[in-house]
Amino acid sequence: MYIGVDYYPEQWPKTRWSEDVRMMKELGINVVRIAEFGWSLMEPEEGKYDFSLYDEAIDLFHKNGIDVVLGTPTATPPAWMVKKYPEILPVDENGVTISFGARRHYTVNSATYQEFSRKITAEMAKRYGSHTAVIGWQTDNEYGHEKSDRSYGDEDRARFQDWLKEEYGTLEKLNETWGTVFWSQTYTEWDQIPVPRKVYQEHNPSLLLDFDRFCAEAYNRYNRLQVDELKKHIEERQFITHNFVYTGLALNQKEMAKDLDFISFDNYPVWGGLPEPITPANIARQHDLCRGTKSGKGYWVMEELSGAQGWGRIGYLPRPGHIQLWTYQAISRGAEAIVYFRWRAARFGTEEFCHGILDHDGKPKRKFEEVKRVIDNMKVFGDEWIESDYKADVAVYHDPENDWAWQIQPQSEVFNYVDEFLRFYEPAHAMNAKTDIISDVEELDGYKVVVVPVYFLTKNGFTDKLKQFAAAGGTVVLTYRSGVKDRFNVVTDQTLPGDLSELAGIEVNEYESLQSGQINRVEGTAGPIEGMTSDAAVWCDLIDPAGAEVLAEYSDTFYSGTAAITKNRTGKGTVYYIGSGLDQEILRPLYREIFAQSGVPVLETPEGVEVLRRGDRETEFLSVLNHNTDSAYTVELPEGEWKDPVTEEVYQGPMEVGALGSIVLRKKS
Ligand code: GAL
Repeated sequence: MYIGVDYYPEQWPKTRWSEDVRMMKELGINVVRIAEFGWSLMEPEEGKYDFSLYDEAIDLFHKNGIDVVLGTPTATPPAWMVKKYPEILPVDENGVTISFGARRHYTVNSATYQEFSRKITAEMAKRYGSHTAVIGWQTDNEYGHEKSDRSYGDEDRARFQDWLKEEYGTLEKLNETWGTVFWSQTYTEWDQIPVPRKVYQEHNPSLLLDFDRFCAEAYNRYNRLQVDELKKHIEERQFITHNFVYTGLALNQKEMAKDLDFISFDNYPVWGGLPEPITPANIARQHDLCRGTKSGKGYWVMEELSGAQGWGRIGYLPRPGHIQLWTYQAISRGAEAIVYFRWRAARFGTEEFCHGILDHDGKPKRKFEEVKRVIDNMKVFGDEWIESDYKADVAVYHDPENDWAWQIQPQSEVFNYVDEFLRFYEPAHAMNAKTDIISDVEELDGYKVVVVPVYFLTKNGFTDKLKQFAAAGGTVVLTYRSGVKDRFNVVTDQTLPGDLSELAGIEVNEYESLQSGQINRVEGTAGPIEGMTSDAAVWCDLIDPAGAEVLAEYSDTFYSGTAAITKNRTGKGTVYYIGSGLDQEILRPLYREIFAQSGVPVLETPEGVEVLRRGDRETEFLSVLNHNTDSAYTVELPEGEWKDPVTEEVYQGPMEVGALGSIVLRKKS
């Protein structure tokens, strides 16, 4: 297994390198990722290449048995390029050109920039494409991050118009699909179509969604350009990956992943200004997204946080135990390699306060010792664990286009796509049911339950799959605001939930959007939630049952007594509809019942304790992760004897796991 660090040789005097390498070896790391921001060194002036610094660094790693992943440096176009070719700079929605001075200051639609990217990628690939130490490549760095996913300049606009021509063929078709008759927007020539820069009100939602699709495809094309260039020169054994973030960008990771050998992910559970880490479920969500990006394929964590992070503001200091906990959590959910960010905190530049395994003084201390312990442990069970089977019973639907459609029209001041996704993902996480995050392209057979949070933008193919899945005996959980839009972001003319109405056995004839501080109440009237109450926030679908059984009703305002949760038996399966943003207190018992009835294995644990089972009968692993910082908890282990391969201790029945404790157990056969 690969465990490594992100290293920046260009930021340190060469006299320090050998000491760094010595300490890396002491730590037990076997890979470094380097060079992803090194363009001005590699091409100090146009067309003049100089790889001497990286030659030396790579050779040093090679001599010391450490492998290298090389980043192409295109996230940081150098100053000379920007001065001479300012057309490469992106433009924001206000028409303001983004300046040189940080990073990601380019638009993927610039032909000039594409050419420069092609050349530097080719030069690097020729130089290192057969270097024994170089095992693979990372294209660029975090495409689209830091708001660099959309650019609104003139060249972007021309390419958007080309893209629309391809998509629609004729202006008649585009006008009709987008409904441009509204507010006199009918286009009579392609070059009249704008990119969605600032307007007084809001743009046409169909144009906005197409613009997001266009931006995502433009990034895919740009990445492909680098991949194609690399492939011309590198040996087949070298892989190509990209380090994604999953923050609702106009980026389609799944599409891009088709051009990559595997995907990578940058895992920062806490960052600048945050007083505490994001929830365990939210971290788990991102790992599930990673595993789902290439339909179950393992991935690398190319940047795994090891110290406090931030630019102008620093966030929460990860506590002793966090490095191991987040490493184990990543591997439990499918990461196959971990690269810690960063080796040492830089003394200069924007990221002076992005701390690493070492701090500014370069001395090995607490974090060094913790990483060492993790690496030592991983040597005992790592490979077998990462290779063990991961099979989920619950699929949770996520389509980036649905996310974009919600960003375009959140409809309630308090709607946030990630929060609402988590609302309906969290009960599964809390009960340690095994989840996959899927999109419309996956097949549903093999899952027992499919949860479809806020299925606002529908895809016909996926709706059909849901129908077949339920008919064949599967359980579907739909939520409020399902079935509203078609793929062009146009509202259905059917009674809601549109094409899902029959499946759910309901009609939604009215609804109410709730704003900050506004809530209704819901009371359970049947089944496992009878007598339970919950706040109803964000949205209320007023459900009229048309065959479905009512499980809960609203208890406030004029629609008091109207159904809020329903259950419909259809074919051999069951379809639940949750009409509002309800609390975990009511969702968990509901999911508990759903899982029990559909045969989804769960493992009930104390709040904040995550347990993940992997493997098969022969080799079974159980990771027990206590995300709580101040209390130990007792976990009831599943049947059998469980051995800690590191200490050789054997556990059975109740096991105590300390605050921020994390342990990987192997079932004794
Ligand atoms: C990541 C990025 C790194 C570094 C890090 C700081 O998003 O890829 O280059 O900026 O954040 O925490």
